[in-house]
Amino acid sequence: MSAARILTVPDKQVIADLMVAAWGSSHMTVGMQLYDTAQIEAHGLYSTEGHLLAFASWTKRGSNIILCAVHALVPGRAYARELLDGLLPLYRETGATRIRAVTTNDNMSALIFYQRYGFRLSMLYVGAIDAYRPKVPGARKVGEHGIPIHDAIELELPL
Ligand SMILES: CC(C)(COP(=O)(O)OP(=O)(O)OC[C@H]1O[C@@H](n2cnc3c(N)ncnc32)[C@H](O)[C@@H]1OP(=O)(O)O)[C@@H](O)C(=O)NCCC(=O)NCCS
Repeated sequence: MSAARILTVPDKQVIADLMVAAWGSSHMTVGMQLYDTAQIEAHGLYSTEGHLLAFASWTKRGSNIILCAVHALVPGRAYARELLDGLLPLYRETGATRIRAVTTNDNMSALIFYQRYGFRLSMLYVGAIDAYRPKVPGARKVGEHGIPIHDAIELELPL
């Protein structure tokens, strides 16, 4: 069993910087809303030595937890799963009834991860990433496997 802990990330700028390094922007669109990961909630999975292993950037909107990003700093070690497992009770305590997550058309890892976790596909926003590019300068144009990034795919998990 892991001894890692889940804590609020004290400095959201750390998350925003990691998002910029990964995606070219600290902003994410979910449900055609733009969220700034420097401003919203962030929780991290930390090693016993205090190293950030994975983070989730999220906010609550109505009865939804909007999961703007889940990111494992080292993929393939179940850090993202452990983080979400730890966050589910917190999300339920907020009174939310479902989690809405988003990824892009190229992101096979995220599609596998979310669906292995139990999320179901809920929406396809064709061209959403292209449409938001003027508001999100620097957002990456090419993603996993060299696939051009154009579309947003939403997934949902009931709480
Ligand atoms: C997507 C991501 C968060 C997954 O994190 P992770 O810690 O590697 O995932 P886990 O190790 O917890 O994997 C959970 C399950 O998904 C599977 N999985 C995750 N990524 C996979 C991949 N690239 N290929 C195949 N299976 C994968 C795991 O095998 C595991 O399967 P299991 O249910 O049989 O145990 C990680 O790849 C990542 O940080 N990517 C960059 C950021 C990103 O794209 N975030 C999502 C959109 S915001």
